[in-house]
Amino acid sequence: MGTQQRVLSGVQPTGNLHLGNYLGAIRNWVEIQHQYDNYFCVVDLHAITVPHNPAILAGDTYGIAALYLACGIDLQHSTIFIQSHVPAHCELTWLLNCITPLNWLEDMIQFKEKAVKQGENVGVGLLDYPVLMAADILLYQADKVPVGEDQKQHLELTRDIVNRFNHQFAKQDEPVLKLPDPLIRKEGARVMSLTDGTKKMSKSDPSELSRINLLDSADEITKKIKRCKTDPVRGLTFDDAERPECNNLLTLYMLLSGKTKAEVAAECEDMGWGQFKPLLTETTIAALKPIQEKYHQIMADKGYLESVLRDGREKAEDIAKQTLIQVKAAMGYSMPL
Ligand code: TYM
Repeated sequence: MGTQQRVLSGVQPTGNLHLGNYLGAIRNWVEIQHQYDNYFCVVDLHAITVPHNPAILAGDTYGIAALYLACGIDLQHSTIFIQSHVPAHCELTWLLNCITPLNWLEDMIQFKEKAVKQGENVGVGLLDYPVLMAADILLYQADKVPVGEDQKQHLELTRDIVNRFNHQFAKQDEPVLKLPDPLIRKEGARVMSLTDGTKKMSKSDPSELSRINLLDSADEITKKIKRCKTDPVRGLTFDDAERPECNNLLTLYMLLSGKTKAEVAAECEDMGWGQFKPLLTETTIAALKPIQEKYHQIMADKGYLESVLRDGREKAEDIAKQTLIQVKAAMGYSMPL
């Protein structure tokens, strides 16, 4: 066990998870978990960097943890915990804040995009969000971080912070913080909106029709696929830059059916949308059904979920505390008496 590489990743508990979160991240966690020692957190501290509703935060957070289990995270290989339950995340964030240049954060694409939406008085938390994410990863000395394409820049920032920290505070050849590598799969790393194939599927899109959520009913899935944007061309093909919707929908079909790209290309080359849409609908409903059933089972047994999260917190906290002590020692702090 001790020689296994470590994985850390997380998802924000803002509403429901959609197919982008599943295919870009969680499905990959499930597939690789047997090779690693894994830590998956629900990042509820990140969730308040945009205006949030206190009445639903805790419920949503538990719901995401249940979805991790429902999607197939296996507790034999993986630890599930809630970010805010391990105070070291905030503490390391502060320490890293003090070595992170402001302009590194101002350059983050997600900050720029979200800041526009928040208007004039952008919260400091939104700017600082990637430092909290770096703290999540570095506390566990993670080797690999499986994420979707949109998190790549945050991973690069994390690596820059590691290099800067080790350069300033570690002895040569004895790094305090480990350099993590992103794990971004080619297929599914950027699932696009159903209403615009040039925009990524996102929780913050005002249109519900733009995304399929993991807990959507069969009727909702049917309606969303029926209304999704297509094009007037007959014969469906991958990788045509002129046909972003077509590429996205074929990719969804490929990933949800488990077929290869070549199989899907051959099956769909002569199809029209009238034939393809029912096929995608049926495949999506069938792929999500076992996840939904398991989710409802887990949510019906709150005691079980609480025990998973309690164990998870204990395991996570043991590691996080050790790293924090090393970081503080390197920075010259006295230890509490
Ligand atoms: P979040 O909650 O926005 O998204 C969770 C995961 O889903 C991926 N994702 C997508 N993948 C493919 N297509 C899409 N349309 C799509 N939309 C989202 C994201 O890349 C991500 O992997 N900052 C992170 C959460 C986080 C984190 C961490 C991740 C906090 N600390 C430490 C890894 C390690 C975020 O907001 O993800």
